[in-house]
Amino acid sequence: MFTMDNGFDFSGKLNINFKPGAVKVIGKELAKQGIEKVLIVTDPGVLKAKLHENLISSLNQANIQYQVFSDVEPNPRDTTCEKAAILAKELKIGTVIGIGGGSSLDTAKCVSFLLTNPGRVKDYNGKDKVKNEPIPMIAIPTTAGTGSEVTANAAITDSEKHIKMSVRSQKIIPYLAVLDPELLATLPQHVAAFSSMDALIHAIESFLSRNANSFSDFFNLKAIELLSKYIRPFYAEPSNTEAAGNMLLGSMLAGLGISNTGTGNAHALGRALGGDYDMAHGLACSVVFPHVMKFNAMAQPGKFVEIAKAMDLPVKGLSEKEIGVKVVEEMFALLDELNIPAKLSGLNVTKESFENMASVAINNVKPNPRKTTETDIIRLFEESY
Ligand SMILES: [Fe+2]
Repeated sequence: MFTMDNGFDFSGKLNINFKPGAVKVIGKELAKQGIEKVLIVTDPGVLKAKLHENLISSLNQANIQYQVFSDVEPNPRDTTCEKAAILAKELKIGTVIGIGGGSSLDTAKCVSFLLTNPGRVKDYNGKDKVKNEPIPMIAIPTTAGTGSEVTANAAITDSEKHIKMSVRSQKIIPYLAVLDPELLATLPQHVAAFSSMDALIHAIESFLSRNANSFSDFFNLKAIELLSKYIRPFYAEPSNTEAAGNMLLGSMLAGLGISNTGTGNAHALGRALGGDYDMAHGLACSVVFPHVMKFNAMAQPGKFVEIAKAMDLPVKGLSEKEIGVKVVEEMFALLDELNIPAKLSGLNVTKESFENMASVAINNVKPNPRKTTETDIIRLFEESY
């Protein structure tokens, strides 16, 4: 519902090709635009699962030359992006194609802007530092997670300081997002669990963000509804095309949300964990998420009721406070059912690192609905331990 009290800004760039088998037409599309050479940016897991095969045959059919760069690691490093960009420059490519999870898409985003902007990735850490128009990029997600295919953000690790940087610019949004549910069919279950939770956390943190508005709420509530309805069937069987398709739709909507509102404390803490422990992003955010939700419930009780309704939780006759408790319980239940470790102590994290991680995380708590201090962050880490 729109209220006149604060109005809103909402930006995005949308060009979506969404259907089972959608990757098969990419070659034809590129040929129409006169593109002759592309770089495919991906990770070893995608190659092993042969998820790029339909893309390759589509490029071959259209006589488009390609090279594959498959060195992308989880929590991609600036040096990896720069290595891929050097290769792309040598090849004189017309388009970069990112295929994989958020790491591959974010690396491809860096390749696209490093080809037309001088210097290193770290020179572009922060908002609106990318000045020149990047070369066109196509994003093909193989997880329903980051929503990176529509976001104006690339999360890259500074390999010297071991912290997560965030390149944020409307210019780095891919010009085409190809959403093909068939690509998710062979996703390992633990990856399905981590990435799906990441998507749900995006939708909820964006909905609760201080920067949320009536327009981002449309996307986020629909995302919460789709993701919470399909997360279990998708985890149970990633080749369930209906579940995979709805998860892809939900993660993309949540991506549009976070691209405009930022994320909350689960991401502030999760990014600090990713930097210090090289932990999978979805896992790092998931472990702390129920505790962050418990912390935030008092700040936005009305919005917790809306979350409960979107998740179709049985809350009839309950007070706002009781509904808040139900939502938090549902988050713990989800982690349990998706076999996601619920404690940091089981993930080789040591308590000695809490202070240092809190000093990093405090820089990312601004959008969180409840005011957060470094002491609060340390307490959240302790509760998650
Ligand atoms: Fe995330």
